Amino acid sequence: MATLNVDLGERSYPIIVGAGLLGDGALLSPYLAGDEVLVVSNDTVAPLYLDRVTASLKDRHLSCQILPDGEQYKNLETLQTIFDTLLENHCSRDTTLIALGGGVIGDLAGFAAACYQRGITFIQLPTTLLAQVDSAVGGKTAVNHPQGKNMIGAFHQPTCVLSDTQTLATLEPRQLSAGLAEVIKYGLIRDTAFFNWLEVNIEKLLAFDPQALEHVIIESCRHKAQVVARDEKEVGERALLNLGHTFGHAIEAATGYGNWLHGEAVSVGMVMAATLSEKMGRLEKDQCARVRELLIRAGLPVTPPRDISPTDYLTHMALDKKVSAGRIRLVLLDAIGQARLVSDYPDSLLQDVLYEFAG
Ligand code: NAD
Ligand code: GLY
Repeated sequence: MATLNVDLGERSYPIIVGAGLLGDGALLSPYLAGDEVLVVSNDTVAPLYLDRVTASLKDRHLSCQILPDGEQYKNLETLQTIFDTLLENHCSRDTTLIALGGGVIGDLAGFAAACYQRGITFIQLPTTLLAQVDSAVGGKTAVNHPQGKNMIGAFHQPTCVLSDTQTLATLEPRQLSAGLAEVIKYGLIRDTAFFNWLEVNIEKLLAFDPQALEHVIIESCRHKAQVVARDEKEVGERALLNLGHTFGHAIEAATGYGNWLHGEAVSVGMVMAATLSEKMGRLEKDQCARVRELLIRAGLPVTPPRDISPTDYLTHMALDKKVSAGRIRLVLLDAIGQARLVSDYPDSLLQDVLYEFAG
């Protein structure tokens, strides 16, 4: 078992990573606000893992809410059902909300915890690779709006993130690959050696090798915890964690939430960002090729659906949360392991990339 810390003063919290942690009530207990607990999960994850969690909390006053599975349910209507449950159960401010699932459940339950009675205690039990390496850490919570991804949300940190690596054994291979997109992202933006390690070990990860997976979860969380501790509310450095996301969110919104997995859209977005970086003369051609190559080897797409037009991209990208003074800011690469937030890219080169990828 490994423990990392997200250093945020009095709101600091541990990320605990290991095999078989879900059933360990003693690990969770110090992070609960009181006796009242609501576990939120979905109809795929609950049949697999809810029993272990409820057994570990049997001495508490426990309720469970099982949501339908899918990105298309990450919206205000589903959020309302969580508030309904909290109110029907007369949950008070010392209730703890526990998210058991992937990034969709974590983002939804986290936002509910941020809003209910102006904020209640929240714990993340992430069960996808993507959630264990990224979404469960850092306190970003949100739901989608038809016009834009994660447009309605709040920063609300959990009191603990408990990642049971054994849960990854039941993930679909496509979901594992989607998580690897965010893992590769850390290498690209801030760790050349980690990217090199991924180039050597990607097959082990695709084969669900437990040691290789634990290594990437710990390394990814180490990166994320460092960035979040320095820039919790994304006024600077944290924006780099959005490499590929401005293009990727446009793909997710344009194709209808749930048709493209978040990690798949981010994969294509990272290739688009690398291509623009290369066109601007910032990124060497061979490094751009390595980015594309590793994503392909990770089982990820590197081209978007051809029916998203450049105008569609720009319409969605104009709503990006990094837009400042009316300008879309993009995370671009100077090298593998070095990223920068850029607003002075030539519009003509962005257009070239959008036309190239629109087919
Ligand atoms: P997800 O939550 O939809 O989970 C993927 C699929 O795997 C779902 O069908 C789920 O039911 C299933 N699943 C989950 N755990 C499983 C298990 N152990 N075994 C079998 N099946 C399992 O998707 P995701 O990739 O985990 O998360 C994507 C979401 O996370 C997106 O909405 C994205 O916007 C968000 N996100 C948020 C942040 C953040 O900082 N808050 C960061 C990155 C992504
Ligand atoms: N996934 C980007 C962030 O948490 O900032």
